[in-house]
Amino acid sequence: MTALCLLVELVSSKHSGITRDYKFDIRMQNVMRLCQAKSIVTVNDQFPGPTITAREGDRVTVKVVNHVQYNVTIHWHGIRQLRSGWADGPAYITQCPIQTGQSYVYNFTITGQRGTLFWHAHVSWLRVTMYGPIIILPKRGVPYPFPQPYKEFPIIFGEWWKADTEKIINQTLKTGGAPNVSDAYTINGLPGPLYSCSAKDTFKLKVKPGKTYMLRLINAALNDELFFSIANHSLTVVEADAVYVKPFETSTVLITPGQTTNVLLKTEHRHANALYLMAARPYATGPGAFDNSTTAGILEYHLPSPKTKKTTKLPLLKPTLPIFNDTTFAMKFNRKHRSLASSKFPAKVPQKVDRRFFFTVGLGLHPCSNPNKTCQGPNNTMRTASVNNVSFVMPNIALLQAHFCNQSKGVYTTDFPANPPFKFNYTGNPPSNIMASSGTKVVVLPFNTSVELVLQDTSIIGAESHPLHLHGFDFFVLGLGMGNFNPNKDPSSFNLVDPAERNTVGVPSGGWVAIRFLADNPGVWFMHCHLEVHTSCGAQDGLDCDGTGSAASQKLPPPPSESP
Ligand SMILES: *[C@@H]1O[C@H](CO)[C@@H](O)[C@H](O)[C@H]1NC(C)=O
Ligand SMILES: *[C@@H]1O[C@H](CO)[C@@H](O)[C@H](O)[C@H]1NC(C)=O
Ligand SMILES: *[C@@H]1O[C@H](CO)[C@@H](O)[C@H](O)[C@H]1NC(C)=O
Ligand SMILES: *[C@@H]1O[C@H](CO)[C@@H](O)[C@H](O)[C@H]1NC(C)=O
Ligand SMILES: *[C@@H]1O[C@H](CO)[C@@H](O)[C@H](O)[C@H]1NC(C)=O
Ligand SMILES: *[C@@H]1O[C@H](CO)[C@@H](O)[C@H](O)[C@H]1NC(C)=O
Ligand SMILES: *[C@@H]1O[C@H](CO)[C@@H](O)[C@H](O)[C@H]1NC(C)=O
Ligand SMILES: *[C@@H]1O[C@H](CO)[C@@H](O)[C@H](O)[C@H]1NC(C)=O
Ligand SMILES: *[C@@H]1O[C@H](CO)[C@@H](O)[C@H](O)[C@H]1NC(C)=O
Ligand SMILES: *[C@@H]1O[C@H](CO)[C@@H](O)[C@H](O)[C@H]1NC(C)=O
Ligand SMILES: *[C@@H]1O[C@H](CO)[C@@H](O)[C@H](O)[C@H]1NC(C)=O
Ligand SMILES: *[C@@H]1O[C@H](CO)[C@@H](O)[C@H](O)[C@H]1NC(C)=O
Repeated sequence: MTALCLLVELVSSKHSGITRDYKFDIRMQNVMRLCQAKSIVTVNDQFPGPTITAREGDRVTVKVVNHVQYNVTIHWHGIRQLRSGWADGPAYITQCPIQTGQSYVYNFTITGQRGTLFWHAHVSWLRVTMYGPIIILPKRGVPYPFPQPYKEFPIIFGEWWKADTEKIINQTLKTGGAPNVSDAYTINGLPGPLYSCSAKDTFKLKVKPGKTYMLRLINAALNDELFFSIANHSLTVVEADAVYVKPFETSTVLITPGQTTNVLLKTEHRHANALYLMAARPYATGPGAFDNSTTAGILEYHLPSPKTKKTTKLPLLKPTLPIFNDTTFAMKFNRKHRSLASSKFPAKVPQKVDRRFFFTVGLGLHPCSNPNKTCQGPNNTMRTASVNNVSFVMPNIALLQAHFCNQSKGVYTTDFPANPPFKFNYTGNPPSNIMASSGTKVVVLPFNTSVELVLQDTSIIGAESHPLHLHGFDFFVLGLGMGNFNPNKDPSSFNLVDPAERNTVGVPSGGWVAIRFLADNPGVWFMHCHLEVHTSCGAQDGLDCDGTGSAASQKLPPPPSESP
């Protein structure tokens, strides 16, 4: 492991704002959905969980107390965690889980970010019910780069199973089959009127005509990308993953698990005499079954007189959403995202590249490992997911702890391949041997390395869109395309001027996406597919941004004294 001690930029984690202290009590709660009661894991007895609200520059502390039988951790999804890797949250990557009866204080400063993010559990499948918004307001007195909305609302999408999801993931890991799909999607925890026995569990957004509202869209679903639209209303996208974008109008938003999108919604007087469904349903490209249902809420105008409201039954209008596999829409929509790249909000795209990586992302098979040899993959195998053919094996010591204590031996190796083991037509006929290898391998990046990464989907078992999420960094999305990435031709079309800056991007189904980032945050950072079904099966790897330089900005402070 080598450390380059070039100090290009001083990043300070000193906070300029106030400290916001939160307490999260993890408890079981009985919740009724689709006419079935279910005991779920909640934060402060709320589902969805509480909203964290802070301003750019504030320090946030959250004391998490675990009162349930499960091991728990919380991830502050998209928060950069500059020099505070111990507060990032993925189990066995940056911390050991908080066990029953234990507590842990997450302590971080929000630096250079404003917009919508979210928090969620980051162990097993517990994030199915443990999630909530993070709202980062600009510094006091600093306006949005668009007109101040009249009001703002979080719209958080989730996924609901009638069965116990911990049983489902246990079963999947034993049999290697595909996990049972969900029974419903939800908007702010509510499935809405299109499911049977669910009409009363419908989210209603009450608005006044002639105003501009901001909706903070968050996809907290486990396994599904979603199309979202509101009947008869267009939406203006102004921010994605807590970075402002050049505003653009659209009737439908595509949002992958792990992404957040702020949209402006204009309400008009001529719309006041109807009710409007806001609906979300999946964008699904992979092989196998998926939950093809539709969640809906209702946009309701305040009417001038309460009398009219009682006597007239208003018509209910429905939006038109793209077909479930509309990859053309997905590509077009992704390409519309551009950074502001203004003097106030520059796009600091690395113009030179120190290290290039080419990662294939896709599915594969493992030999059956359960004692009964009763696996459900083809020919008694287990389905898995991999990056460069390596399926990640979760260690039982947190990688960051092993790295910090110089005890990586036996925990992880640093030989994660920069390229796939061999070339093939990634989006054509797959090779005959579709077995994947496995290991706990990381990529080591000296401090301040400028990284270019091309993520290429494969058609092994089936092409599929994979929303890749990187912890600890935002990256620039330089370009995306269908088929095999062509290193001679495609880079000439990269956007190095105003590319979108995000923490999660969909690797196109049957295509590729190219990203760049500067590795300026010491620690061990997880990169994984935000489809939980793939994370559980190995589509992930660790990035070890070496922090052994001498300057303060390069060093990771020691772990908090009472770490789990
Ligand atoms: C909870 O975490 C501890 C510490 O990592 C581990 O020993 C234990 O097996 C975990 N329990 C479960 C149910 O996963
Ligand atoms: C959070 O971290 C800061 C900086 O290390 C420290 O001063 C503060 O006491 C911590 N707060 C809590 C609640 O641990
Ligand atoms: C899932 O498996 C773990 C580890 O084998 C076990 O501790 C836990 O009780 C199981 N959970 C359920 C709901 O079956
Ligand atoms: C998954 O679905 C199958 C088929 O409906 C059912 O037999 C099985 O019990 C389900 N698994 C769980 C954990 O609910
Ligand atoms: C809503 O849109 C539909 C289809 O575009 C149109 O026929 C209808 O007139 C619109 N209704 C309102 C109230 O805008
Ligand atoms: C999914 O549902 C839509 C209607 O909501 C339907 O048009 C489509 O055929 C369904 N697709 C699959 C694969 O079931
Ligand atoms: C999408 O699904 C439809 C219906 O199953 C199918 O006819 C069509 O070929 C699919 N399109 C793509 C791009 O896969
Ligand atoms: C293996 O067989 C035992 C005994 O029949 C059974 O209890 C267990 O559930 C089986 N495990 C799997 C993964 O099928
Ligand atoms: C399963 O095994 C059979 C017979 O060996 C073979 O023809 C088939 O291609 C295998 N299927 C897969 C998906 O590997
Ligand atoms: C860490 O391990 C390396 C290689 O084993 C060794 O050279 C180095 O001195 C160790 N550093 C510390 C701080 O223990
Ligand atoms: C890969 O396979 C696809 C589908 O068969 C084909 O259209 C394409 O031309 C092939 N690409 C290369 C580079 O061979
Ligand atoms: C993946 O690794 C396995 C096991 O080492 C190997 O058999 C297979 O050929 C590799 N496949 C690809 C596509 O690299």
